[in-house]
Amino acid sequence: MSRLVVVSNRVAVPDAQSATAGGLAVALRDALQSCGGVWFGWSGKTAAQTAEKPAITEVGPVTYATLDLGRKDYNEYYNGFANRTLWPLFHYRLDLAEFSHENYTGYLRVNTLFADKLRPLIEDDDHIWVHDYHMIPLGRELRALGVEHPMGFYLHTPFPALEVLLALPSHALLVKSLCAYDVIGFQTENDLRAFRDYIHYETKGELIDEQTFHAYGRVVRAEVFPIGIERGQMEEASARAVELGAARRLERTLHNRSLMIGVDRLDYSKGIPERFRSFERFLETYPDHRGQVSMMQIAPLSRSEVPEYKAIRDELEGLAGYINGRYGDFDWMPLHYLTKNFQRETLAGFFRLSRVGVVTPLRDGMNLVAKEYVASQDPSYPGVLVLSRFAGAARELDAALLVNPYDHDGVAAALHQGLVMSLEERRERWESMIAKVRDNSLEHWREAFLSVLRAVPTLAERRAGT
Ligand code: F6P
Repeated sequence: MSRLVVVSNRVAVPDAQSATAGGLAVALRDALQSCGGVWFGWSGKTAAQTAEKPAITEVGPVTYATLDLGRKDYNEYYNGFANRTLWPLFHYRLDLAEFSHENYTGYLRVNTLFADKLRPLIEDDDHIWVHDYHMIPLGRELRALGVEHPMGFYLHTPFPALEVLLALPSHALLVKSLCAYDVIGFQTENDLRAFRDYIHYETKGELIDEQTFHAYGRVVRAEVFPIGIERGQMEEASARAVELGAARRLERTLHNRSLMIGVDRLDYSKGIPERFRSFERFLETYPDHRGQVSMMQIAPLSRSEVPEYKAIRDELEGLAGYINGRYGDFDWMPLHYLTKNFQRETLAGFFRLSRVGVVTPLRDGMNLVAKEYVASQDPSYPGVLVLSRFAGAARELDAALLVNPYDHDGVAAALHQGLVMSLEERRERWESMIAKVRDNSLEHWREAFLSVLRAVPTLAERRAGT
């Protein structure tokens, strides 16, 4: 099997902390281990100047190559265009998107630099798999350096509707850059439809069939590959973790009250302030639950240097204080709000203890927490998932209580419904959801994408065929 070159903003270089690597990191590492190859990207570190050469770590057949970024590059590429322009725009937050020419230039510059540093590590037979919105121009930059290899791109975020994308001054070059790849993977049909709309209405591209089109002189395949979680991992971890220290201690603090749980990176796309307001509405509308149920929101800090992330942190602190001040009692705290990070195994135990999982992003590519919550449940006594219809996961997990996160009354009613739902209905809904979580696993996602990418002939195969 030919080698794989994986490119992503963050690289999971195995080290002392590798035991805590997330599912995606493990899945990509496994793929690289089996066929050998390179994982290339940012080191996660900044320096006065961007490094001249990538730092190399060899582990078995895999080369991990990472670059430290200088402050200017980091600010313009990561904090700037990736996370203040593309991220809000792709999550339908035009109100938060900043269009700075300087940041855009920095984003292009860093992608050009990544392509330059990656080029010498690529061998003739390789397949290249690039991940996420940070790296959209990379494929085009590699093509400019003569890289004719099979190249795939997977977008982990939503792809915005045509009218939203058109607000981006550089939309044309961005989509043209996407078309430099041979295969483009999206999370949901919605995303693929939005992309097809753009090709259809904005370019002279021609749709050959549902998944293939001709644009900018290239034939490109675009498909849906919904991402999942590792097969069996959370199911086993939660059964174990619920017997362990943290889950036991949490259970003791509940004093037989029910628990509702939300776990999200602290990001405005996750709808946490709206969730808090819905929880307040729930306490207001269903007073019988007061003193009987608590909500725990775990929201580890993320992208803390980006001003919009600082603002939402302040907002949440205010809201949590307000709700607890207004409704709490000397022996009951309605809302537990923590920005601390927990190991996934610990979270699995927390999920299993929680009667309701609350996953209400305003917009999300997939949302793996929804799948992790389902996988963590006790099959004989499962909890209920309250899920935003705007999370990619809602496509598969349609047996959840689907809600509109902007509708506080609707979410409050769903929280109530989750708490009073019969065990029979809970089991029925859970069985439908767990079957999909198991079928569309992370391994399945990886293999599905790679089988399409590997069907594109390598450079050596093309040369041999001519
Ligand atoms: O899913 C989007 C994503 O940007 C991932 O690529 C990334 O691992 C995650 O969010 C966390 O974001 P960051 O790398 O900015 O901390």
